[in-house]
Amino acid sequence: MFNYTQQTENIEFVEIAPASELPSGERLFVEIEGKSIVIFNIAGQLFAIGDICTHDDGPLGDGDLEGYNIVCPRHGAEFDVRTGKVMQMPAVVDIPAYPVKVVDGMIQVGMPRE
Ligand code: FES
Repeated sequence: MFNYTQQTENIEFVEIAPASELPSGERLFVEIEGKSIVIFNIAGQLFAIGDICTHDDGPLGDGDLEGYNIVCPRHGAEFDVRTGKVMQMPAVVDIPAYPVKVVDGMIQVGMPRE
């Protein structure tokens, strides 16, 4: 399973940055526990996904957003940033999507635990 956004058990939230560093329409690139992750602010809602395309490791976070879909800049695969679900070929495997929350003005991303 790659969509961790609804998972409530075995998730540990990691503090990332002040929410003021991620205004609406912007994105933030972070590395959490060795994983490249990009966090989007879309109209005030935050979404976090793995920054690596499952087609051929393209830098997903560099792509354009079309609504809630991120378009891989390499070959045009699309993924829903809300769920990590692949929406458009040539990718066929979902990417990880992580839960995000803001606590006391700080962005936190939930990382799955074994
Ligand atoms: S690497 Fe993303 S579509 Fe090919």
